Amino acid sequence: MIIGVLNQKGGVGKTTLSINLAAIFSRNGARVLLIDADPQGSALDWAAARNEEPLFSVIGLPRATIHKEINQIAKGYDYVIIDSPPRVTDLARSAIMASDLILIPVQPSPYDIWAADEIIKLINEALIYKQNLKSAFVINRKILNTAIGRDVREALEVYSVPSFKASITQRVIFAESAAQGKAVCEIDEKSLATKEIKAVVKEIMEFLK
Ligand SMILES: Nc1ncnc2c1ncn2[C@@H]1O[C@H](COP(=O)(O)OP(=O)(O)OP(=O)(O)O)[C@@H](O)[C@H]1O
Ligand SMILES: [Mg+2]
Repeated sequence: MIIGVLNQKGGVGKTTLSINLAAIFSRNGARVLLIDADPQGSALDWAAARNEEPLFSVIGLPRATIHKEINQIAKGYDYVIIDSPPRVTDLARSAIMASDLILIPVQPSPYDIWAADEIIKLINEALIYKQNLKSAFVINRKILNTAIGRDVREALEVYSVPSFKASITQRVIFAESAAQGKAVCEIDEKSLATKEIKAVVKEIMEFLK
């Protein structure tokens, strides 16, 4: 299973979601590879900040050739997660063509909702060649008990892509764990943040059935 985490907008939580999903999959016993397709190398930096044994492998591949190499690279892994960069269109296209499932993190802000237009266009373009491609929005940095937090799902209905029921709340543990090269489940297995990521994993499984 190849999961591309994409959004042309910067700072929406692509790397955060990629790392934390990878951690839950590997904790569940799967062999997981995280491909850092971002020339900024944020996931590689995350791995470098880590003192403990790695939970999963992280490699850098910031090239628009991922779709050509993915079959070779994915050999021996149950899950490959591609953390994509913002803005770079040829890389996004390559990551989309390499993936079975696209997750689009989106923040509950009108700017994010409008900006999602770009990635949806790329996905629709890819669907011409890849009819089995699946995609979904994952709402990230939801602020509890706010109107925008509730309305975002409705606002996203203008797009042809569904939104996951599971969403991720704005929580400081996401940034704190990243600073130590850890996933939230390693900092606190019972935290609400961990529960939210596990709920996203569960929904991925149901979505792919
Ligand atoms: N749910 C969350 N709660 C709190 N902080 C978060 C959350 N999600 C992401 N962040 C923080 O927001 C910042 C941006 O997140 P991240 O780097 O994952 O986004 P990105 O989409 O990968 O950015 P880029 O487009 O630059 O690659 C980081 O500092 C991260 O720790
Ligand atoms: Mg990133």
